Amino acid sequence: MQAKITGVGHFTPDNRLTNHDLEKLVDTNDDWIMSRTGIKERRILDKAKGTSFMAVRAAESVLTQTRTSADEIDLILIATVTPDMPVPATAAIVQNKIGAANAWGFDLNGGCAGFLCALATGSQFIQTGKHKKVMVIGADKMSSIINYEDRATCILFGDAAGAVLLEPSANEDLGIVDFILHLDGSGAEYLYMAAGGSLQPATRETVNQKLHYVYQNGKKVFKHAVSGMSDVSAKIMKRNNLSDKDVACLIPHQANLRIIDAAAKKMGLGPEQVIININKYGNTTAATIPLAMSEAYRDRKLNKGDWIVMSAFGAGFTWGSLLFRWAME
Ligand code: UT7
Repeated sequence: MQAKITGVGHFTPDNRLTNHDLEKLVDTNDDWIMSRTGIKERRILDKAKGTSFMAVRAAESVLTQTRTSADEIDLILIATVTPDMPVPATAAIVQNKIGAANAWGFDLNGGCAGFLCALATGSQFIQTGKHKKVMVIGADKMSSIINYEDRATCILFGDAAGAVLLEPSANEDLGIVDFILHLDGSGAEYLYMAAGGSLQPATRETVNQKLHYVYQNGKKVFKHAVSGMSDVSAKIMKRNNLSDKDVACLIPHQANLRIIDAAAKKMGLGPEQVIININKYGNTTAATIPLAMSEAYRDRKLNKGDWIVMSAFGAGFTWGSLLFRWAME
């Protein structure tokens, strides 16, 4: 039985970091940021809180929406590149906080494509019949790994979490139909955080050299993101015999408005068929897609039976698309 999304929710911190705020931190300006990225502001979580704080709130909103008791959850998957700490998994912290006494779970690092990887993984446990309720969360506190002296990266990222509940679909026409995922490690050198792992554990030197922050070669990533997201989205439509008129909308990873526009163009989609909220939140890494989906559902942009394509590209390089039919009223 295929998996369908039966609930979706999100959490964003209240604190806003606007382009004008950034003008005071680095040599940048609102015009440059808007024209190159489409970002107006991002949300920043309190320093004292970790990614799990946001993940718990997103998960709880899904439990409330679906009237699900936490102890019914079989599995919790958390896509994140900013776990609360390396050990234990953030999934363990979230499992305890929400009281999902019967769940197992783990974290998954698929960079900006992490939520797609987690959704594809979770759907398999439903499809095999092994599990009935899987909570898939995308959450990142990017502000914890961003150098606010580096104008090339600090303007891009923000903090957020989004979550969905997966359950078996009695109706074969609804739910997750197909996915395509890729990994090309030759792209690792263009987007990474050098220290804090086993290769370069934290030392005074690594901190002084600012190696605990994200490094990105924006131009290289941009080029690969445009072709990667465009090609894989067009491919998943073609192999499922769907035209631009069949697809109700694209829910893309929100890294750069120009990347989203290029992917939509390649798929033949008009602006009204693309879910965009990058202006409000920037790139929240694993959270962008569930956050965009949650807002689109709240704003009644998603209708039962709609064909929807999700697509993402990020560190690794890892990228892909997932095709599904919206199952909620
Ligand atoms: O989600 C994970 C995947 N990540 C992505 O998909 C991000 C992909 N990359 C991008 O979105 C874009 O490459 C950026 C938004 C990061 C940069 O845009 P760009 O059009 O590629 O600009 P650039 O890096 O080529 O920089 C152009 C100029 C440079 O100045 P010069 O060398 O031409 O004099 C930069 O130094 O803009 C300068 N610049 C800035 N100027 C004002 C770079 N950052 C800034 C800034 N404000 N914040």
